[in-house]
Amino acid sequence: MTDPDLTILGVETSCDETAVGIVSGGADVRSSVIASQVDLHARFGGVVPEVASRAHTQLVNGVLAQALVEAGLTGHDLGAVAACEGPGLAGALLVGVSVGKALALAHGIPYVGVNHMEGHLYAAFLEEPDLAPPMTVLLVSGGHTMIVHMEDHGRYRVLGQTVDDAAGEAFDKVARLLGLGFPGGPVIDRLATRGDPSAVAFPRPMLDEGYDFSFSGLKTAVLVHVRDHGDEQVEDIAASFQEAAVDVLVTKLFRAVEEVGAPTVVLGGGVAANTRLRERVFDEAERRGLHPVVPSPVMCTDNGAMIAAAAFQVLSRVGPTSMRAGAYPGLRLASHPH
Ligand code: KG4
Ligand code: ZN
Repeated sequence: MTDPDLTILGVETSCDETAVGIVSGGADVRSSVIASQVDLHARFGGVVPEVASRAHTQLVNGVLAQALVEAGLTGHDLGAVAACEGPGLAGALLVGVSVGKALALAHGIPYVGVNHMEGHLYAAFLEEPDLAPPMTVLLVSGGHTMIVHMEDHGRYRVLGQTVDDAAGEAFDKVARLLGLGFPGGPVIDRLATRGDPSAVAFPRPMLDEGYDFSFSGLKTAVLVHVRDHGDEQVEDIAASFQEAAVDVLVTKLFRAVEEVGAPTVVLGGGVAANTRLRERVFDEAERRGLHPVVPSPVMCTDNGAMIAAAAFQVLSRVGPTSMRAGAYPGLRLASHPH
């Protein structure tokens, strides 16, 4: 039986954020420190894997030390150490996994490997510690877009996913073609507040077809529109693109919620920081008498606290992860690599 107040340190290095979070009892965030590498990658217009791994190596010890100081703890207060083991960039993941295992070994405490998407899902439990499955979850990040029905802890049914670009990838690519820099999500979100979402009628790909998503056609539609109407307000294009993307996400999410009959609807992943998506999910949930759980924006984007929160569950359900486990770049939700 896992100590209900166990303190877990979670390391997240799957992409371009070097992050460490410390969480007690699965939901009490003692600290969450995030060193973003955005400036390093911005001039390349996207994340460069080699640059990311090197930066993680340079940043991780400082982030770790700061997380302990901010929590007012030392390594001796930790009950377990967790690291994101996949999916993500191989070299980047290896940094976090190595740090996690080394720390666990040094303190003689369990190591727990955590799936990144499961981490995003468990950010909801940081928002609402008493949250309980069943719930239907929309996970939207730079690499993934999926609707998951969580029947119980560790029991997931993936109802739909993207057949091409992830939602965050679409935001990033559209921002790039509008000359707005990287990462695109936050810039489009900001510009869209000053634009007219009905200015351009962009397509809503696969809106009436099941739970899978396709965003590459929408991106191309924006590209063609910009080429043909170069003089249009960038705010209007940003708002219209965002409205189309959010429309598809929200429509499919609530269609799934209706079909499975879950009383709770949850958002997670970097794109869940989007103002319009959050607003639409809250409104729609309220209209249908459902319980919406949307983590605060800093807990939606990559962080270490979500890894520690998920690890608490993994540890109590399946126990520690073997020290022989590695990093799994293509790891899928609910698969067990070790
Ligand atoms: O979960 P995350 O931090 O990293 C991955 O696991 O990929 O998600 C990053 C993605 C990026 O594509 C970024 O542009 C997007 O989330 N994002 C947003 C917003 N903030 C971050 N997209 C739309 N609106 C936002 N406010
Ligand atoms: Zn993520």
